[in-house]
Amino acid sequence: MYQLESLRQTYGNRAVLDIPTMQVRESEILALVGPSGAGKSTLLRLLNFLETPTSGMIRFAGQTINGAAPLAVRRQVTTVFQRPVLRRASVRANIAYGLGLRGLPADGRVDAMLEEVGLTGLAKQGAHTLSGGEMQRVALARALVIEPRVLLLDEPTANLDPYNVGLIEEIIRRQNQERGTTIVIVTHNVFQAKRLAHRVGLLLAGNLIELADTATFFNTPADARTAAFVRGEMVY
Ligand SMILES: Nc1ncnc2c1ncn2[C@@H]1O[C@H](COP(=O)(O)OP(=O)(O)O)[C@@H](O)[C@H]1O
Ligand SMILES: [Mg+2]
Repeated sequence: MYQLESLRQTYGNRAVLDIPTMQVRESEILALVGPSGAGKSTLLRLLNFLETPTSGMIRFAGQTINGAAPLAVRRQVTTVFQRPVLRRASVRANIAYGLGLRGLPADGRVDAMLEEVGLTGLAKQGAHTLSGGEMQRVALARALVIEPRVLLLDEPTANLDPYNVGLIEEIIRRQNQERGTTIVIVTHNVFQAKRLAHRVGLLLAGNLIELADTATFFNTPADARTAAFVRGEMVY
């Protein structure tokens, strides 16, 4: 889905991301783990074409993206952040919003999405009155209703209760299995990476230390820093 080459992002004169080569495979769930400040969110912003890299190349679905990505490319990718910004409107209106922007009919899609995230009973309620976990499910529904090819998740379950974490993980899994959506999830929780991901990557200080199949990453990592991170020995 993505091919990154010599990708660097610099803020001022500080390099916060430096990735010689990396791929995101079509229809995989890729988890990115690493301490705070490692560059995980910066990488997601680049994958969502919200920023252009200082140098290097991003190829998306075979198309080299130089500078600002075309709208047709940007519309295939969407991000859900840790703290969703919802409109002061009903749950239903929030989910329908992106469809309206794209000139697509809301018709049955919003109802199907409400059902999928378990919010049918709250459709008419104001989104700002919901619990954190319910809000995050609205944000996911709003992202998924437009049927993105790529879903980027930046710590989507941080600070949520276990019940909502479970629901959200199930939504993510189903979206990947049933629609083949390519998913990149940044998570602080290595157990979540283990539960969800096909492959896991460790970022440290802007460097991609190791990217491997989940079993390899956890059981027989190639890098000592991955082993330390997985054992919870890395202090951050
Ligand atoms: N817009 C910005 N301007 C300057 N520095 C930034 C900006 N965004 C992120 N950084 C810095 O880049 C580094 C990586 O940040 P970030 O990608 O948010 O890390 P993570 O998501 O892994 O915690 C941090 O040191 C952060 O302070
Ligand atoms: Mg971050």
